[in-house]
Amino acid sequence: MSDLVLSAKHISKTYKLPSGSIKVLNDFSIDIKQGEHVAIVGKSGSGKSTALHILGTLDKPDKSPDTSINFASVGELTKLSENRKALLRAEKIGFVFQTYHLMPEMNIVDNVALPNMALKKRNPQAKERAIALLEAVGLGERLAHKPLELSGGEQQRVAVARALINSPELILADEPTGNLDPATGDSILDILFSLSSKLPLIGGEQKAPPALLVVTHTPHIAEKCDRILTLEKGVLN
Ligand SMILES: Nc1ncnc2c1ncn2[C@@H]1O[C@H](COP(=O)(O)OP(=O)(O)O)[C@@H](O)[C@H]1O
Ligand SMILES: [Mg+2]
Repeated sequence: MSDLVLSAKHISKTYKLPSGSIKVLNDFSIDIKQGEHVAIVGKSGSGKSTALHILGTLDKPDKSPDTSINFASVGELTKLSENRKALLRAEKIGFVFQTYHLMPEMNIVDNVALPNMALKKRNPQAKERAIALLEAVGLGERLAHKPLELSGGEQQRVAVARALINSPELILADEPTGNLDPATGDSILDILFSLSSKLPLIGGEQKAPPALLVVTHTPHIAEKCDRILTLEKGVLN
């Protein structure tokens, strides 16, 4: 476990609907090493978002005695309370979604600094770090702007900066370029890759670079990762 950031075993997920049940994930396992970049590809509807949400504790796997999600620095997650899981997400995981999920009424500095508010021990320098991150993603001239005053690509750069604010150990990105034109999408991924490896330099914190798990439909983005896993029939291979 020592060089792993996350080790998930025997994850299944069944959605129970009035019209019947569908088993979306069927006993998959995954290990992610510290600093590793892993791509997940697979057809639409194959369960990629469900898998990412479960690994990030936003959703629960089916109950089974074999199932475990171990987060290296925390331990087993599946039995944690909702409050502990929320704290874990804020402290250790950065999320990037296809549709940005920014707060429209806040300026972009406050958006980026927001996950710091969820920490038990808040960083008094969070605003300075948010500004440094926004400068690093090329938005240093737009600090007073609100999300809807920015383009889609710019909003996603804000979301990338927000994912990095608490120096996470793992970044989960669900089709982060899915709403963007190819060139803008490429630039977002370049920023995500280069910033996550430079992260220890931002704000002077000495932390290991985070691992990155990215769902993508774009082959050349997947090929930039250390490993490509395909989700098919509920299993990752
Ligand atoms: N909350 C839900 N309730 C019921 N079915 C769901 C729910 N979320 C996803 N699904 C179903 O699970 C399957 C996988 O969805 P998803 O994880 O979003 O796939 P992907 O991200 O690969 O496109 C789809 O058939 C979808 O309709
Ligand atoms: Mg999806």
